[in-house]
Amino acid sequence: MKIAIVTGASSGMGAEFVKCLDREDCGELWLIARRRERLEQIAAGCKTPVRIMPLDLLDESSFDSISKELEAAGAEVAWLINSAGFGEFGEIGIQPIETQTRMIDLNVKATVIMCNVVFPYLERGSHIVNLGSGSVFNPLPYFNIYSSTKAFILQYSRALYYELKDRGVCVSVFCPGWVRTEFFSHTRDNVRRSPKSYKPMTEADEVVAYCMKKAKKNKQFIVHGWFTKTQHLLSKLLPRRALIKIWLGMLTDKES
Ligand SMILES: NC(=O)c1ccc[n+]([C@@H]2O[C@H](COP(=O)([O-])OP(=O)(O)OC[C@H]3O[C@@H](n4cnc5c(N)ncnc54)[C@H](OP(=O)(O)O)[C@@H]3O)[C@@H](O)[C@H]2O)c1
Repeated sequence: MKIAIVTGASSGMGAEFVKCLDREDCGELWLIARRRERLEQIAAGCKTPVRIMPLDLLDESSFDSISKELEAAGAEVAWLINSAGFGEFGEIGIQPIETQTRMIDLNVKATVIMCNVVFPYLERGSHIVNLGSGSVFNPLPYFNIYSSTKAFILQYSRALYYELKDRGVCVSVFCPGWVRTEFFSHTRDNVRRSPKSYKPMTEADEVVAYCMKKAKKNKQFIVHGWFTKTQHLLSKLLPRRALIKIWLGMLTDKES
């Protein structure tokens, strides 16, 4: 049986990936996130059979549970979407160390472990999609930890693409700009400086449909939107100092 696994399936882009995968030829969809009720609601809208896995990916025992379920099912993982993640603006000395390490553990460590956990169950034609971000192209003061976690995901995914290519498995890294999701409900908890505006803001259904279209064509690096594509281009053309100056000019003090 072919299955699709989506982490971060309870909201935002993860939930949109579930809708898209529901239209693919999968025997089961496995939805992972902490909020069971949200997963149940999303499952109720699917025509494909769904396995709900209310797990906290900051708890390492969650990966044992997923491994055991995979072993018992003996399933082929046709799709793994690593969408669980969060980001907060902040700076050293103000942003709690615990927030910084949780970002690293969820955005980086959980993604890497999930890739390893599904590895034995990947077949020719399988896909892994890791969520990067438009923040990966340059160092971003005051969004440092988040953008650094996503820069890791960019490099990791691009290298993994070549490690798995000969097995016929495609690894894609998806870099959208700002997307309207619950991501912004906790982005600015511990911060003095953050963007003056989050424009352009795109819709999750639109960006996920775009990503799925490109992933199905085995694209390894998927960037959505003119703004993010321009950021990517400028990161190749301009010196780093100029890029950081532009970024700092886009921020404002919280009090102002
Ligand atoms: N929105 C943007 O502008 C944007 C732009 C570029 C990239 N991204 C990235 O895209 C991905 C999806 O974000 P989104 O915008 O869709 O945000 P979102 O709506 O907040 O979704 C985040 C998902 O991660 C899950 N999650 C959070 N902590 C978890 C944990 N400890 N264990 C398991 N699941 C956990 C959440 O579910 P529960 O709370 O139920 O656990 C939720 O389903 C993230 O990696 C994010 O960094 C977002």
